Amino acid sequence: MYVLGIESSCDETAAAVVEGADRVLSSVIASQVAAHKPYGGVVPELASRMHVEAIVPVVTTAIQEAGIAVDDIQGVAATQGPGLVGALLVGFSFAKAFAWARNLPLAGVNHLEAHIHSLRLCRPAPEFPFIALVVSGGHTNIYHVLSDNRFELMGQTRDDAAGEAFDKVAKTLGLGYPGGPVIEAMAKNSDPGHITFPRSLLEKGSFDFSFSGLKSAVARYIHDHPLQNDQDRARVAAAFQAAVIDVVCEKLLAAARFRHCRQIGISGGVSANQTLVTALTRRAARHQIRVIAPPLSLCGDNAAMVAARGAVMIRDGQTCGLADDVFSRALNLSA
Ligand code: KG4
Ligand code: ZN
Repeated sequence: MYVLGIESSCDETAAAVVEGADRVLSSVIASQVAAHKPYGGVVPELASRMHVEAIVPVVTTAIQEAGIAVDDIQGVAATQGPGLVGALLVGFSFAKAFAWARNLPLAGVNHLEAHIHSLRLCRPAPEFPFIALVVSGGHTNIYHVLSDNRFELMGQTRDDAAGEAFDKVAKTLGLGYPGGPVIEAMAKNSDPGHITFPRSLLEKGSFDFSFSGLKSAVARYIHDHPLQNDQDRARVAAAFQAAVIDVVCEKLLAAARFRHCRQIGISGGVSANQTLVTALTRRAARHQIRVIAPPLSLCGDNAAMVAARGAVMIRDGQTCGLADDVFSRALNLSA
């Protein structure tokens, strides 16, 4: 079954075509990062307007690149939430209209489930059950994934998401937006051992995260030790990144031990961080645990994961209708 997927929850307009739940035929992403950069973050109104301009060309290109005809499409999937409502509405309304006009089944995809499903597009893919981390600008969630449709939330951030912490620390360092890639690049120029920032592990046995204390510690350090040059910035970036990585590795390995899982998958924008992937892979190997990280094209927001997740939902009869609406905040996933 060919499924067209659409993603517009934040600042990427994306469309993809998949065959079944795990074969990607095309994946097109129009990023708005350059447009939001001058504002230091995503401007919701601007994002919506840019989605409106991009949606038709992006969908057309995705169908062309898949090498199929419009008539071959047998199902439509679009991100329903969580995300920016005005942005979501563009992709979801387009998908509704497309499905209605062509009399096709429509799947309203949860963005977090789509990030988890991106792991099923990896080769080799993880087998159920596995531990999954969705780590992005909005979320830092650990799941015990039992099947295509069963996700048990084990832990989440109590304040900032990991990606949000990267973005805020980058701002404090004057490195611009988005923060993750610049911090990672900057951190390569220094040893992380020059400064030790706190690792917040919370109560014993908790799989939750807290990154706001770390963010404040960085701000305090910079206040007490004014930055003189790029070497100072690199030291802070490296020490901050090491603290995030330490906590993420610790929690994920504890979750895997707790659930007796031998596989950990990481997905979402922050999983593009190769320093994190390398550290986690090394630490997990000591416990005979395999780490699955998607290729860069599937880490950030994309429509291949939405289309593939939608293919599963349509297969399992989880479709929606024209009366369904987008949602802004995370709903609990099916457990
Ligand atoms: O999944 P995503 O594209 O959008 C959301 O759903 O939030 O994630 C974006 C987040 C941003 O906070 C960005 O700074 C972070 O992912 N990010 C990174 C890296 N690349 C992107 N964080 C750390 N290291 C990276 N290399
Ligand atoms: Zn995302």
